[in-house]
Amino acid sequence: MTQAVTVKTLLEMKRNKTPIVSLTAYDYPFARIADESGVDILLVGDSLGMVVQGGASTLGVTMDEMIYHTRTVARGAKRALVVGDMPFLSYQVSLSEAVYNAGRFLKEAGAAAVKLEGGATVIDRIKAMTDAGIPVQAHIGLTPQSVHMLGGYRVQRDAERLRMDAEAVEAAGAFSVVLEGIPQDIAKNITAALRIPTIGIGAGRECDGQVLVLHDMLGLNDGHLPKFVKQYASLRKNAVEGVSAYVREVREKSFPGDEHAY
Ligand code: KIV
Repeated sequence: MTQAVTVKTLLEMKRNKTPIVSLTAYDYPFARIADESGVDILLVGDSLGMVVQGGASTLGVTMDEMIYHTRTVARGAKRALVVGDMPFLSYQVSLSEAVYNAGRFLKEAGAAAVKLEGGATVIDRIKAMTDAGIPVQAHIGLTPQSVHMLGGYRVQRDAERLRMDAEAVEAAGAFSVVLEGIPQDIAKNITAALRIPTIGIGAGRECDGQVLVLHDMLGLNDGHLPKFVKQYASLRKNAVEGVSAYVREVREKSFPGDEHAY
């Protein structure tokens, strides 16, 4: 069996210039599919608030919901590193709550690391978590939990601030940083400056790795897709075709056939 991915593997992949592949997953069957397909990091993103729960933002997702989904993903991951995404208000209120909630992902859900949003403003959280033995992936740029502060889901272009945030999270002990929604030349400079791998989403090809939201790249949802998404399959269309055929056959009594009966 191929060796399991650890935070050390990811640092090595950056050193060897091997692109890191990350994808979100929210349940066992898709975790199995992504793991078998060779994905290195399975991120149980709080994006589940939108793509699984149908919410308008990620803000309503709770710790208990994240633990539930992370547990199902961890059961399906044989090789990939499982990262649990810390939901809104699980790490902002106090340092002790932040460490406790981060620890729940490892203790109760089987994750190997957590992710949180923010740069220089969350370095005390990152340090406290890593001191407690919890690997942390940072996330800077377009941080969806701050959608109301950012005035919408907008590309972030302040190169100096982004560079300072990236260097701050690395110095605080993060093993990797997600760069979301930033121009590719800024992502390229940050990637060159850091020792830890950058994982881009809407940040161009010069990052050390890429992450996408599973439901977007597999075409599972209807509705708007951001410019940075490439759709690799049309699962919603296939599912509607399959379910419609079932509806038709039950109505016309051609299912179940004799071969499905006892
Ligand atoms: O919640 C999520 O899925 C994420 C990724 C888009 C990076 O944070």
